[in-house]
Amino acid sequence: MATQASTHTQRGVFPQGFADHGARHVAIIMDGNGRWAKKRLLPRFAGHKAGVDAVRRTARAARELGIECLTLYAFSSENWKRPAAEIADLMGLLRRFIEADIDELVADDVRLRVIGNYRALEPSLVTLIDDAIARTAGNNGPILAIALNYGSQDEMIRAVQSLATRAAAGEIAPEDIGTDHLDAALDTATLPPLDLLIRTSGEQRLSNFLLWQAAYAELYFTDTLWPDFGSDALVQALDTFKGRDRRYGGL
Ligand code: FPP
Repeated sequence: MATQASTHTQRGVFPQGFADHGARHVAIIMDGNGRWAKKRLLPRFAGHKAGVDAVRRTARAARELGIECLTLYAFSSENWKRPAAEIADLMGLLRRFIEADIDELVADDVRLRVIGNYRALEPSLVTLIDDAIARTAGNNGPILAIALNYGSQDEMIRAVQSLATRAAAGEIAPEDIGTDHLDAALDTATLPPLDLLIRTSGEQRLSNFLLWQAAYAELYFTDTLWPDFGSDALVQALDTFKGRDRRYGGL
């Protein structure tokens, strides 16, 4: 974590204080695309499209602000309940985002990760994602983790199943299973501990996102609709985070 008087980043220099927020891992529930579009009498697709611009702005800002890992909830395991046309729109936007931005992510030393059961997505999209992850695998910089077909309960069930399989095979004793084992079996195993969980658009719930990982995360809710989110809103969230007293159950 940089704490020097100014922080040099690939895109600029931030004054003292901007990189000493202490948040290694920030996750965002990106909510409000539909309402943003409705306010403008636009189709929902326009809101999602503007949401991708916010993804780009926020991911760049997170890198500049020295956040080690940014995790974005792009498509939940419950989002399949939406109309087929909207699901197709979201998958199309995701595909175009990866195609358009992968060169920048590689150049910026970003490590792209995906959490969630993304292998259930359309095969050509899975290949595109796997290729993009592979292209950034040799990087050493910040992590951009995208949650796709992600549900925390599904993730925990998959993790418990893998531990149960190992226990049945005699690799681990059931009574030895502890938090470290579950941490290591989750999709987030290689991500830093979650510090700050942001939800936009005024809703105040977790919606099956990072339930285990959020055990001691700070929660931050903002009325800003996701397409309006960006560097300033992220800095505001980090300022609030900096003022929080994290006691982890202690005094
Ligand atoms: C919530 O808004 C947003 C989503 C369900 C999808 C988020 C997806 C994107 C921002 C675009 C694709 C992502 C990437 C990483 C390229 P909502 O539709 O629930 O809004 P509403 O509650 O106002 O209707």
